[in-house]
Amino acid sequence: MQAYGEQRSEQASTHFYYPDSISINMEPNSESWLSCIRCGQKYDISRRKYICDRCHGLLEVKHSIPDHFTAEGFSGVWHYAPLIHPAMGNTRIISRGEGGTALYSHESVSKFTGLSSLGMKHEGENPTGSFKDRGMTVAVTEALRLGATETICASTGNTSASAASYSALAGIRSNVLIPSGNISSSKLSQAIAYGARIIDIPGDFDMAMSNVIRIAESRQDYYVLNSINPWRIEGQKTIFFEIMERLRDCRFIALPAGNLGNTSAAGKAIREFKELGLIDDIPKIISVQAEGASPFYNLWAGAGEKLEPVRASTIASAIRIGNPVNWEKAIREIRYTGGMVVTVTDREIMEAKRVVDRSGIGCEPASAASVAGLKKLVDQGRIDRNDSAVAVLTGNILKDTASILEDSDRIPVDAFMQELAA
Ligand SMILES: Cc1ncc(COP(=O)(O)O)c(C=O)c1O
Ligand SMILES: [Zn+2]
Repeated sequence: MQAYGEQRSEQASTHFYYPDSISINMEPNSESWLSCIRCGQKYDISRRKYICDRCHGLLEVKHSIPDHFTAEGFSGVWHYAPLIHPAMGNTRIISRGEGGTALYSHESVSKFTGLSSLGMKHEGENPTGSFKDRGMTVAVTEALRLGATETICASTGNTSASAASYSALAGIRSNVLIPSGNISSSKLSQAIAYGARIIDIPGDFDMAMSNVIRIAESRQDYYVLNSINPWRIEGQKTIFFEIMERLRDCRFIALPAGNLGNTSAAGKAIREFKELGLIDDIPKIISVQAEGASPFYNLWAGAGEKLEPVRASTIASAIRIGNPVNWEKAIREIRYTGGMVVTVTDREIMEAKRVVDRSGIGCEPASAASVAGLKKLVDQGRIDRNDSAVAVLTGNILKDTASILEDSDRIPVDAFMQELAA
């Protein structure tokens, strides 16, 4: 496959970064289509579809994957353009340079988990502060390509912030349904500031999500930006492409699991790298759920074949989800990689967060679940301390400041002066 070239508008050839004026010239002979994961029914990518008409299964994007993959040009998500949207032609891309995040390691965090060396992929360093930006650049680019004039999503916070930012760049109005009282004020503030229309749902995320699905069925003009949109998954695959390129011997990748888009993206990325012959051994996915929001764990650990929704409750609001839409994709990927699903308590999440924060790296509560999950598996002897593992830190430390302030030790100035004088 011929490498793709970089084309920028005249404006963008100055020193400025114009996030709405990039285009990539791709070879036009590639093909992509939507495919139902249950019955295999194919749909054209020009249709705004998320669920199969025939069997109500989830749709995924399939590509005629090139024989080999040449990554040239852009950094970050669009570096992998031939593997995420090879058939898009010369389209205007809505990008803020997302991806290419740091892979940290810190002795104190490794020691906490019991691993000799732990990698932390910091997705909180994306433009709006979470991994969602990787999926959003692809989904909003697609929204524009399909001529959508409104976007819509349900959100525990990060999706709304990302959707609002990218929709604003594209000049499309964003509508976000949020579970009122169930969302961090920092995330909600971002969505408001970026100009989203906020719709309050007197209920939880799951209720907001089912409203979005209902609206999408009747209103084609509202383009859905939740991870039920298969293009979100395409962008999020790049987290795992980057990890696998950096750490060829990576055995475990741990990530917090809510609506299960990221678990699905991890598996698809691993599968495609394996098919391309870019890896020999496949990393195992470790999906980590909060104990009070663990329907996926119940499915994986139990005998059933269908996810049973639960009423979700956890301090980690980003993964407070009881009826994850992507469970059917995610369970397939956990089984494909021989991975595991594990639960951690809120106390374990906050303990892990404190260690990550004190190391100087920092993350939001849900992200620390991945570190807590690895610790638990090492403690239980299900992961060897010398195994190579990466925890995905999905969100920035500033995403949930209330959880930090609740737990802060502050001393009055008099006490401090006395201490200095002693
Ligand atoms: C910080 C953070 N971590 C993890 C998740 C869960 O990801 P997923 O819904 O793809 O399972 C979310 C989703 O909102 C999130 O915002
Ligand atoms: Zn189907």
